[in-house]
Amino acid sequence: MVNIASLWQYLALQAPLHSSMSGEPLNLTKMGLTTYTLPALPYAYNALEPHISAQIMELHHSKHHQAYVTNLNKALESHVAAVAAGDVAAQIALQQTIKFNGGGHINHSLFWKNLAPAGTEETRADAAKGLVAEIDRTWGGLENFKKTFSAALLGIQGSGWGWLVQEGGHGGSLRIVTTKDQDPVVGGDVPILGVDMWEHAYYLQYLNGKAAYVENIWNVINWKTAEERFQGKSEDKLEEKSEL
Ligand SMILES: [Fe+2]
Repeated sequence: MVNIASLWQYLALQAPLHSSMSGEPLNLTKMGLTTYTLPALPYAYNALEPHISAQIMELHHSKHHQAYVTNLNKALESHVAAVAAGDVAAQIALQQTIKFNGGGHINHSLFWKNLAPAGTEETRADAAKGLVAEIDRTWGGLENFKKTFSAALLGIQGSGWGWLVQEGGHGGSLRIVTTKDQDPVVGGDVPILGVDMWEHAYYLQYLNGKAAYVENIWNVINWKTAEERFQGKSEDKLEEKSEL
């Protein structure tokens, strides 16, 4: 025998799906969908040469990062539709795609801004006086920090990222962490600077010379951005698409 109360609840949950099946297009924006756009690089594709080639930068930004944004948006649209349809299984099936592509979008957005052309004011460590003082306290000097961070980067197995974070929020202790694949920094830790250790970040130029990539990345680290993040003054916001 059908339990009427349960049936009513079931139909109520399915109602949005029925209206979407009536031919009326779903207005995903009204349904709370936020989608994202590829941020422009704050410098030209060749600006980080000779340390990172223009070819790598162009592919990395316009193809790889763009793919994360495109796939994230598609997954978010599907997720909103699955919520509207009350399809929990479909929502669960989308979680990994959202995590991977959302992480890819967040990580690369942070990465572009913590790089700058070599020899500019931004790449001088004295652009990060507060951060460097804390690095000195934590690692006994900038050179020792770079050595420790580089070792962590080279210790990543497969694809991933290395991060300097403030543990648990602004004012927290500095710590070096690595994340796998496109997992972003989570749990309240504040990313100060990140380095992409996927092969697409260096292979076209450095081939299997991962250590040389890591050695050279220090020439293009944007210490000014790192200091702003350390001080809680950065404007790291993901750009949203205004409409579908
Ligand atoms: Fe990447």
